[in-house]
Amino acid sequence: MKVLVVGGGGREHALVWKIAKSPLVKEVIAAPGNAGIAGQARCEPISADDLNALVEFSVNEAVDLVVVGPEAPLVSGLADRLTKKGIRVFGPSAAAAKLEGSKAFAKDFMQRHNIPTASYMVHDALDAALYDVEHRRRACVVKADGLAAGKGVFLCRNSYEARDVLRGMMEERQFGAAGQKVIIEDWLEGEEVSVLAICDGERFVTLIPAQDHKAAYEGDTGPNTGGMGAYAPAPLITPEIEHHIVQGVIKPTLQGMAQDGTPFRGILYAGLMFCDDKPYVLEYNVRFGDPECQPMMAMMDEDIVPLLVAAADGKLEQPAVKWLPGAALCVVLACEGYPGPYEKGMRIEGLDAAEAKSDVVVFHAGTKLDSSRLVTSGGRVLGVTARGSTLVDAARLAYGAANEIHWKGMRMRRDIGHRAL
Ligand code: AMP
Ligand code: GLY
Repeated sequence: MKVLVVGGGGREHALVWKIAKSPLVKEVIAAPGNAGIAGQARCEPISADDLNALVEFSVNEAVDLVVVGPEAPLVSGLADRLTKKGIRVFGPSAAAAKLEGSKAFAKDFMQRHNIPTASYMVHDALDAALYDVEHRRRACVVKADGLAAGKGVFLCRNSYEARDVLRGMMEERQFGAAGQKVIIEDWLEGEEVSVLAICDGERFVTLIPAQDHKAAYEGDTGPNTGGMGAYAPAPLITPEIEHHIVQGVIKPTLQGMAQDGTPFRGILYAGLMFCDDKPYVLEYNVRFGDPECQPMMAMMDEDIVPLLVAAADGKLEQPAVKWLPGAALCVVLACEGYPGPYEKGMRIEGLDAAEAKSDVVVFHAGTKLDSSRLVTSGGRVLGVTARGSTLVDAARLAYGAANEIHWKGMRMRRDIGHRAL
């Protein structure tokens, strides 16, 4: 088989690494990929947002399976366009990807299908939104409706904070069109967990529970990022809790999407808050988490390709996925300044020493080759991932390897996994 992976981050490197191991696969291609992915796949300089070029390329190359990493092309309809051309794709249709593409759509969907979520209001006029927060006694969360690269969510302790956020979104258009509609919802307190499932429109298999660390600094402080590290399995999600989430969230979501005529195929990622022993959905994502995907791929004890093909074809029959024993942990190495502005083009050193360590794999995110030297080209640069017999062991191995790597301004969180260690 010829498989095309769309995207060029750490998540896509982990997918390419796993897919390339499949005996069913002759060639892996990545668009656009990155300097690390280039070691395992042919990289084509096509942006993940260039739908026309991706479709044309897939047809010309007679690709057997397209695996879409990021959400934006899915929300724009990449899966629909590939399907129309007879190309098999792992990822939801645009109609199903609205679960992530529009938070207002997701909230209305949950309300209609009795899926627990924080109570909310949707506004597209600033006056009404301001009136709503004035009359709300409790702390609230203000969210931009559309895609905002994970930056469109604000926890507001009082109405003053909420008003500022609303003005920024709706008046100053901080998030462009994505913030013209907003959701104001109750601030839920509890334990945050996520559950991911591979879905075929009707059936599903859950993936190993993983936990990411979104905050930039140690102790879960500082601004939210895409994720500074992750580990799997996450002991917080016991089999009982997972059962609860499957029954209360995953099943009704898939049933609801099928009933509404927009069956969900691909990765359903439910971000949840556990309050009073009940899971409330904070958000849906329609793709693997980044960096959660990195430890997940390190732990998967079977060929991923038949799973992706079965889900894409609507024929997912196996009841569960096999996982290796032990645990895996990924530490993200980022640039100073991230998630704010940062410098690019820093020379990366020590990668060979890190990769020489056993049970360690370094997934690339923002890297590129500059006259055959590896340099930084993004905020999150590398994801040093290790598997060990326990989570403590995995953390020791991952940090041991991460300590070999350096560049000017390199930064990492030193406490990934701390909640579970
Ligand atoms: P979202 O993109 O909607 O998941 O929001 C990003 C982050 O904001 C989540 O991972 C939570 O940490 C936090 N968050 C979102 N909604 C709520 C809520 N209703 N109550 C408390 N925290 C929330
Ligand atoms: N790590 C969180 C996400 O991918 O959305």
